Amino acid sequence: MKNILVTGGAGYIGSHTLIELVKAGFNPVVYDNLSNSSVIAIDRVENIVNQKIDFIKGDVLDKDLLKQTFKTHNFFAVIHFAGLKAVGESVKEPLKYYQNNVAGTLNLLEVMSEFGVQNLVFSSSATVYGSPKSLPIFEHFPRSCTNPYGQSKLMVEYILEDLCKSKAFNAISLRYFNPIGAYQTGTIGEDPKDIPNNLMPYISQVAVGKLQKLSVFGDDYDTIDGTGVRDYIHIIDLAKGHLKALEYLVKGDKDNHIIGFEPINLGTGSGTSVLQLVNAFEKATGQNVPYVIVSRRAGDIASCYASCDKAKSLLNWQAQFDITRACLDTWRWQKNNPMGYQS
Ligand code: NAD
Ligand code: UFG
Repeated sequence: MKNILVTGGAGYIGSHTLIELVKAGFNPVVYDNLSNSSVIAIDRVENIVNQKIDFIKGDVLDKDLLKQTFKTHNFFAVIHFAGLKAVGESVKEPLKYYQNNVAGTLNLLEVMSEFGVQNLVFSSSATVYGSPKSLPIFEHFPRSCTNPYGQSKLMVEYILEDLCKSKAFNAISLRYFNPIGAYQTGTIGEDPKDIPNNLMPYISQVAVGKLQKLSVFGDDYDTIDGTGVRDYIHIIDLAKGHLKALEYLVKGDKDNHIIGFEPINLGTGSGTSVLQLVNAFEKATGQNVPYVIVSRRAGDIASCYASCDKAKSLLNWQAQFDITRACLDTWRWQKNNPMGYQS
């Protein structure tokens, strides 16, 4: 059984990925400082998979603890979710973001080097494409970012590219589009600490009565109904994408093949507007989601959706779940846990 270090494994995407890893016979070891998550998420994953999950409370900035962790486990690969992700906060506190996301990754890469671990799956983002010149977005499109969060992801991609040129190292950079939904048990899901920045958790918190109404950021974009269009991908599909990436690394290892730096989009390939998502949520759940149109949010683009050809051809992966299923799963999680993991 291969040991996989999962940094940030207690978070939203990490916790769902743990389930897929265990189901496929990997042994995930979670390393998380719980700065944006709860250990309850790990307990709930243990209930779902009916198995204990190794958990280390640690910070990727703590190099000594990282080394200790590598010394006591023989890791085949690292899935590196640990990172801060609030765009607005990153504009106000850029150093915190560069320190955590860039310096944290450098630490991890140095320790991986020291212990001869050469396989990485990195959590990148569609944000690295900035304002795309056309749609769908392909992996070879030019990259640019306008905020420190996005820059931190882009910087890590550059670091990984250089590292892969310098020696035998495999780095699959998964560029996520917009993850939504929750595991079907309704016991784990997205649990934003403050008022949600992202659309889906905002919608579900309005539906559960925690927030009054949704502010729709602009209805004058050049889109189907004037509201922003994004590629919403079910969290279980996203989690399975990580498993496929890992299996690709295992195959590369068996064939003695160096993969190098490989950026891969994980999305569905189609776009949904804000109002379409609100309508889909209302229809799927029977809940009312009052909203008001307000002005555009600074830094937002009109439309963004992925080409998923590369994920299909290289990883044999494509998204299975639709928006209706994601709305139902989100709602099950939200209504069972109105205050998130603290409910
Ligand atoms: P999350 O905040 O739920 O999970 C991140 C986890 O990392 C948290 O459990 C947090 O406690 C942990 N963490 C943060 N800094 C750490 C550190 N220094 N040391 C150890 N642990 C640390 O976020 P998520 O939505 O699960 O995102 C996971 C990754 O995917 C992040 O890197 C994020 O930037 C990236 N990403 C997310 C989205 C999205 O919309 N959710 C989109 C694109 C990319
Ligand atoms: N929106 C609203 N009201 C809200 C929140 C969002 O109208 O309260 C709109 C936005 O204007 C946008 C759409 O809903 O048109 C989606 O917004 P999100 O904030 O949910 O998602 P973004 O596409 O802006 O950004 C997300 C993550 C980024 C990541 C990016 C690409 O927040 O970190 O997806 O993966 F980089």
